[in-house]
Amino acid sequence: MSARVAILISGSGSNMVALAESMAGDHPARPVLVVSNRPEAGGLAKARDLGIATAVVDHRPFGTDRAAFEAALTEQLEAHRPDILCLAGFMRVLTPAFTSRWAGRMLNIHPSLLPKYPGLDTHARAIAAGDTEAGCTVHEVTAELDGGPILGQARVPVLPGDTPEALAARILPWEHRLYPAVLRRFAEDDRRPVFLP
Ligand code: GRF
Repeated sequence: MSARVAILISGSGSNMVALAESMAGDHPARPVLVVSNRPEAGGLAKARDLGIATAVVDHRPFGTDRAAFEAALTEQLEAHRPDILCLAGFMRVLTPAFTSRWAGRMLNIHPSLLPKYPGLDTHARAIAAGDTEAGCTVHEVTAELDGGPILGQARVPVLPGDTPEALAARILPWEHRLYPAVLRRFAEDDRRPVFLP
């Protein structure tokens, strides 16, 4: 039986597309839902084009009531009975109640070499610190923001004169290789980390 994967997005969905397209043939998992907290997320149309069910749970009407937002999100998720959740450019911080409910079944991709630079503006911070290397990380999601067990990393050089945009553009293609590679192992219950290149 294939593992059922729900992908949570907030934006353009390029990682979602990489994950969805990788789940073909003998892959041990299948995408069953793409859900966004932003109705205008570009990734929703891409998911529909790939024939994947989509849903929107707009966080804005819930204001600061995260529990109510997550209850609505969980209702959408449960309707598709996912085994694994993949956060792919999902920009809502999840509460400990939600992360513990999906403990051991939820992954996230973060555009830095964790534990360096959890949170936002990762590329600008790496450049400002004078780092010579940067990259991306796939980790299990826990209550600690960007702090769960690391399942994979990809490294790229930081080049002289790099802007955050240039560095982000150099890292994104590696995100699209790393996340599918980690998901395949995760769906096979293989917790050996993936290191690229
Ligand atoms: C990616 O760089 C990801 O690491 C970060 O947000 C960006 C989202 O890209 N969390 P996309 O929506 O998958 O294209």
